[in-house]
Amino acid sequence: MIFKKQEKLPKRVPRHVAMIMDGNGRWALARGLPRLAGHRAGTENLRQIIESCVEFGIEYLTIYAFSTENWGRPLEEVQGLMRILEDVIDRELPELHKQGVQLRHIGNLDRLRPELRQKVMDAIQLTKDNNRLVLNVAFNYGGRDEIICAIQQIIEKGVRPEEVTEELVSQYLYTVGVPDPDLIIRTSGELRGSNFLIWQGAYAEWYFTPTFWPNFDREELRKAIEEYSQRERRYGKTGSQAASE
Ligand code: IPE
Ligand code: IPE
Ligand code: MG
Repeated sequence: MIFKKQEKLPKRVPRHVAMIMDGNGRWALARGLPRLAGHRAGTENLRQIIESCVEFGIEYLTIYAFSTENWGRPLEEVQGLMRILEDVIDRELPELHKQGVQLRHIGNLDRLRPELRQKVMDAIQLTKDNNRLVLNVAFNYGGRDEIICAIQQIIEKGVRPEEVTEELVSQYLYTVGVPDPDLIIRTSGELRGSNFLIWQGAYAEWYFTPTFWPNFDREELRKAIEEYSQRERRYGKTGSQAASE
């Protein structure tokens, strides 16, 4: 029998974890590899993170894979990232489906090649009844773009000003039906939000680690959740109010 170290699982687990998977380029650079090798290593790493989320009882995982700003990178890298998304769907979809993962997409698919767009939509359709873990893939996602789209639709629908509430706005976002993230993790030591879930993350807890995304493993995730479980979420109230809720 393999001896497995007994470890404490976190006490209070976030329902929804969102991740800014950053540092693939620097991970590759440090090894003298091309940046795309870092992106490939980053997607390889996702498998164990998804499995760990299921193990820890996380219900929703949102991953930032390509931002609206990432179009500004060299063409070769942009094309490489599109290819990687395509390969990941081809390679991982059957297993994800088997594990009961429900795939969703947040962002705008219009700018993707029609074949890739179709592939994403087919994956969503295939897994729509799964309920073990909801995996939201933010691809061509931008928080400001999302809010602009919501405003456009709200105006188009002729919604009256006094009807505009937080609940109504949430209904028009890409994340409709998904609870707000409890914990947002950013790897690679950068301390910024980079246009990620700017509405939904209004009261999220943040966790930063210097680890590059391809090295962010189950143990790191466990540590992040452990730290989350020690935090007191006050939502503007006093500490004693929050403690008695
Ligand atoms: C994050 O890694 C992945 C994407 C943005 C697609 P980066 O590519 O930003 O890696 P660094 O920040 O350059 O190291
Ligand atoms: C954010 O990372 C986007 C993704 C992880 C997909 P970036 O590396 O693009 O963000 P900045 O440029 O450091 O803000
Ligand atoms: Mg980066």
